[in-house]
Formats: sequence, structure tokens, C-alpha cells
Amino acid sequence: MEKISRTKIVDLLKRRDFGAMVNVKGWVRTRRGSKQVNFIALNDGSTINNVQIVVDLANFDEEMLKQITTGACISVNGELTESIGSGQAAEIQAREIEVLGTCDNTYPLQKKGHTMEFLREIAHLRPRTNTFGAVFRIRHNMAIAIHKFFHERGFFYFHTPIITASDCEGAGQMFQVTTKNLYDLKKDENGAIIYEDDFFGKQASLTVSGQLEGELAATALGAIYTFGPTFRAENSNTPRHLAEFWMIEPEVAFNDITDNMDLAEDFIKYCVRWALDNCYDDVKFLNDMFDKGLIERLQGVLKEDFVRLPYTEGIKILEEAVAKGHKFEFPVYWGVDLASEHERYLVEDHFKRPVILTDYPKEIKAFYMKQNEDGKTVRAMDVLFPKIGEIIGGSEREADYDKLMTRIQELEIPMKDMWWYLDTRKFGSCPHSGFGLGFERLLLFVTGMTNIRDVIPFPRTPRNAEF
Ligand code: 4AD
Ligand code: MG
Repeated sequence: MEKISRTKIVDLLKRRDFGAMVNVKGWVRTRRGSKQVNFIALNDGSTINNVQIVVDLANFDEEMLKQITTGACISVNGELTESIGSGQAAEIQAREIEVLGTCDNTYPLQKKGHTMEFLREIAHLRPRTNTFGAVFRIRHNMAIAIHKFFHERGFFYFHTPIITASDCEGAGQMFQVTTKNLYDLKKDENGAIIYEDDFFGKQASLTVSGQLEGELAATALGAIYTFGPTFRAENSNTPRHLAEFWMIEPEVAFNDITDNMDLAEDFIKYCVRWALDNCYDDVKFLNDMFDKGLIERLQGVLKEDFVRLPYTEGIKILEEAVAKGHKFEFPVYWGVDLASEHERYLVEDHFKRPVILTDYPKEIKAFYMKQNEDGKTVRAMDVLFPKIGEIIGGSEREADYDKLMTRIQELEIPMKDMWWYLDTRKFGSCPHSGFGLGFERLLLFVTGMTNIRDVIPFPRTPRNAEF
């Protein structure tokens, strides 16, 4: 076959230099036609759109043509021509075709309309579907948007460790990391496992959050963000929880809770706008295919200011709803950790736009949050989104050494893990704030997918670590 340098289909479909000889490579989506002429829809992953290859059967070897089945990988040399029937402006009149990889007839993506559940079972192949191609291109674009947003604002990308000995959120949902022989665990006289001889000389785990190390950096570099994988061994089998997910955590010296809310709102709006501006074909596909309200929802978020409301006011609204006969599965009272149904009631039924809920009871929030004068609440902020519930969790941090220390003692957090964190409050402490955005929760919002397992390539959930 003549050597012509390859054009990606995304670029090819924009070309209008009809008559040019081009090469494309990709996977066959469909093949149809008559005894004389066949039409191959070819996709190479660079765009949701296929290029149509027109094949005049008389010009090609019959045995080679037989191998061009759904899923096969082919390389095509041909003439770029103006198209009338393909739905695209350009198509290719094939001159030479090489089959790079034939496709076994057990290929599970023969027909359209597979369920999401089935596609999860073939997660190694689902990126070849239109839906997952769109989702993963959007995922890439959101990652780029995030780096751009922070870089443009002078934030530094800071790498916090994946393996850690401290439980940032204090929820005890950590996966252990060990090289110990689990069949022969040495224990002390109280039955506790001895870790001195383990790899790190102490008990270590996968991180649930980069925040504590992020605070060290913010009080040195001024403004930083992390963007990395985090791990939580919470046994919640919900459409919004993963055991391994990616989190973005900005942390900013001298920001108070209001600055923190402004940053969160700007940040999410920037990402949503980026999706509409840079991934329109993919977003439009998902809108038309699954969720006719998606684009409208994305545009809606850009138009409106987020509601900012103290937790106590939020509880009042929920209690009034209950009094008027609204049924929630879980009880509503001051002090309760809000369930997703409560968050979504505030956002979708009451305010009909995103809500930032602040000043939560200290009992349901982490030790590091700045304590309010009332002695009951902390300067927390959760950003609540339509269809999602909590998308961001953050706070102003407690900058006062004594107050922080008292809280650590009340919660009986082992100090041996915390000395380095407390040093920030001893050596030039300053007001500072930050938050964590769940990357996959953002993707749920932007793609309109309804299950978090469908916005990460290989989901990790309880009893599932295939692929
Ligand atoms: O609210 P969280 O637990 O906050 C923190 O980890 C703080 N250290 C963040 C900070 O202030 N720097 O988690 C932050 C976000 C949640 O709002 C949610 O979007 C996401 O992370 N998240 C999850 N996403 C998927 N699966 C899970 N199991 C998640 N747990 C939290
Ligand atoms: Mg939270």
C-alpha cells in the first residue's frame, strides 16, 4: 500500500480540499450497501463523528473485503470527496484498503442499544462505543480545563502523596498498604498488630485526601491545587460513590470562607463553560441520546448565581417541607448529616439552582474546620448540584493552634500522625481556605450520565476491581 501520512478523522472532516489523496486508520462501526458499492462508517476515536468510506467492490479483492466486519481495524488510502449522503461534508472514495486487524465474530459490540450494566461488564471494550468515546473525551477536556483555570490564576500544581499515615477526613475509611505476610501477623500482648517491621515502619494507607499536605504548600507558595487519585473504603454502593476517585483540591492562604465560595463558583462555571465551548459535539450527542435537558442544565448553571445559605436555614426549609407533607426516606433535624435526597430537594425543588450550604454542625464535619463563635458550628461549605447532590466539600481552616489542638484532643486523633500539620499553626499561621471537587461528580453533571461507574474508565467499587 502506498505510504500516505495519516489524517485523524476529526481533522479530515473539516477539510475541503476535495481531490486530495488521504489516509485514515480506524475501527469499522458499520458496513452496508449493495452488490456494487459498500459504505463503511469508520471511527478512530478522535471525534464522535465517523467518516464514510465508499468502496467500489469491483476494484478490491473479495477475500480482503470479507474481513471488513464490525470492529475490524483498517487503513484506507483514498480520495477526499464532497459527500451528499453521509451526514458529513467530506467522505473518502477508497483506492487501497489494508486490514490491520480482523475482528473475531464473538465481538460483543455488534449491535447498538446495549445496556449500561452490560457495557460495564465489558469495560475493556466500551471506550469503542459512541457513548463512552464521548464521555472519555469530555473527561480529558475537563482535566485540561482544570489545569488551565488554576494556572491562569497563578496557582501551583502540587503533588501530595498517595501513600500516607494520616486520615485527613478522620472517617476511618482507608485502604491499608502493607508488605506484611498476612498469613503470619505478629501481634503484641494486647493483640494489636506490630507494624515496626512493616515496609514504612508504621501503619500506612492510601490517601483519602491531599488536603493536609496541600495546606503545608498553601502556607508556603500561597495558592496551590492538587489533582490526583484518592481512595475510600466506604461500603456505599450508590450511583455517586467510588472506592477510587479523582479529586481536585485548591488551598489558598489568606482566603476566608467567602473567597472560598467565590473561587468554587468561578471554578465550576469555568469547567462547565469549557465543556460547552470545547466538547459541543460530544455533549450534544449525550444530550440527544440520553438526557434532553442536559445542555439546558449546563447553560442554566452559567446564568445563575449560586444560593449561599447557612445549614441552619437549610434545615428550616427541609422541616417546612416535611410539615407540608413532603416525604423523605431519612429524618430531618438540626444536627443531621444531610442525605442526598435532602440536598437535592433544596437544589431541585426549592431553589432550582445550585446551593452552597455553610456553617454546618461541628459534629458532622472534620477536625480542621474553623470554629464559629457559637461553639456549635464550623465554617464549612458544601456545594450542592442538581441531579448530583454534593459536588464540592470545603471550609475555611482553623488557623488557631490552641483551638485546633483542643479539637484534635476531643476527637482523640492520634497526635503522632499530626505533628507536622500542627507546625503550620506554630510557624507563621495564617487564615486559609480550600475545598475538594470530586472529579467524577463534575463529570456526572457535565455528561448527564446517571451512574458514577460510567464516567471513569475502570471503576473500583465494593466487590469490583475487574480490568
Ligand atoms: O467532602 P470531602 O470528603 O472533602 C474532603 O476530602 C476535603 N479534604 C476536601 C478539602 O477541603 N480539600 O470530599 C470532597 C469531594 C466531595 O464533595 C465529592 O464530590 C467527592 O469529593 N467525593 C467522592 N466522589 C466519588 N466517590 C466517593 N466515594 C467520594 N467521596 C467524596
Ligand atoms: Mg463532604
